[in-house]
Amino acid sequence: MGTVSTKSDKPESAGNAGSAEARRADGEADGLRKAAHLDICIDEKQYDVEGGSSGFEEVRFLHRALPELAEPDVQTETEFFGHPVRLPIFISSMTGGSDHGYNANKELARAAQACGIPVGMGSIRIIFRKPEVIEHFQLKRYAPDVPVFANIGGVQLIEMDHDVLYEGIKRLEVQGIAVHLNPGQELFQPEGDRDFRGIAAATARFTESSPVPVLVKETGFGIDPISARMLLESGAQYIDVAGSGGTNWVQVERHRLSGAAGEAAEEFRSWGIATAPLLAALRALGVPRGRLLASGGVRNGLDISKALALGAHSVGLALPFIRAVHAGGYEAVTELIGRYEKVLRSAMVLSGCSTLQELATATLLTSSSFREQRDALIEAGRVEL
Ligand SMILES: Cc1cc2nc3c(=O)[nH]c(=O)nc-3n(C[C@H](O)[C@H](O)[C@H](O)COP(=O)(O)O)c2cc1C
Repeated sequence: MGTVSTKSDKPESAGNAGSAEARRADGEADGLRKAAHLDICIDEKQYDVEGGSSGFEEVRFLHRALPELAEPDVQTETEFFGHPVRLPIFISSMTGGSDHGYNANKELARAAQACGIPVGMGSIRIIFRKPEVIEHFQLKRYAPDVPVFANIGGVQLIEMDHDVLYEGIKRLEVQGIAVHLNPGQELFQPEGDRDFRGIAAATARFTESSPVPVLVKETGFGIDPISARMLLESGAQYIDVAGSGGTNWVQVERHRLSGAAGEAAEEFRSWGIATAPLLAALRALGVPRGRLLASGGVRNGLDISKALALGAHSVGLALPFIRAVHAGGYEAVTELIGRYEKVLRSAMVLSGCSTLQELATATLLTSSSFREQRDALIEAGRVEL
């Protein structure tokens, strides 16, 4: 296992502060770091970036021997950010800012357009530091008929002028923006942020005047019930739990670290809240299905079906799509989505559901460990704020 250097491990100047030269240097560092992350995530043989368990293996559908419905009647159409889509599946926020990232974004956006699903992109912070890379994020031209959503870090909402961000969002012609929370990754990034105070208030302020709906997501450790409540109460339209069991960003960073820092990162391999029981807990605590999205460790069509049955409105995947695009471009991504669709439709028939509304109330058989985790999360969410 090697370590990936980006030659950018230096403290960053904040947001749009500092001279144009300093901003540009930060932009270069952002691009190098994003490229290194991409290299690590796609090289499955050399770098292990996953950890923990998503909990989907602890959930089973009740098989119906007499489904009493016809497969062609199964309906999987839904909406995303208020726009119609063909499937309750989305391509999670990932990349941009490097040549490789740009190519991946184009192919992912084309595949999303062909399959009628929403597509995200990586953090757009870099376009305010290195404006020429805006093209990497102008995905609407490749995905004109499906929702495209931008991305920014919660920490940046403290540092940056919101009007500048709104202007960027308008230029990208996106239908929504995902605000990511990634304190775990930042702590293990040599150049990362260390101060996480004020993100909830900044997100609330940002949401209030945002020209597009705001989705708040984690990046693989999960949004706990208390944070979810704070975010929804402060105006975020959607929550994507992005729980654990899939890409673990402390492990991604570990491949850029050595010695004791790398060993410290290793201790966080199974950190985080498993996606499946977290979804169940948030629904039980009253998070409306229409505002709840699932991702984190979703690895196949049955995981997607289970996430929908646990109460998610739509389900996102990151690592499987970036690896598919790297291996076989647009074709590989559309093929993968086709496989997910086949499994989803079949799981719906076999559990006796012809609509996504029915799927959301399908009978599930869960393990005692799943129920223990869910109940502990519900308990944690009942705390007075
Ligand atoms: C290569 C790569 C780059 C990513 N970059 C971002 C990003 O810029 N912003 C963000 O919110 N999440 C980012 N993520 C996190 C994903 O959106 C997702 O939350 C996380 O990877 C868990 O999903 P997974 O287990 O399906 O990979 C990235 C993930 C990957 C694999």
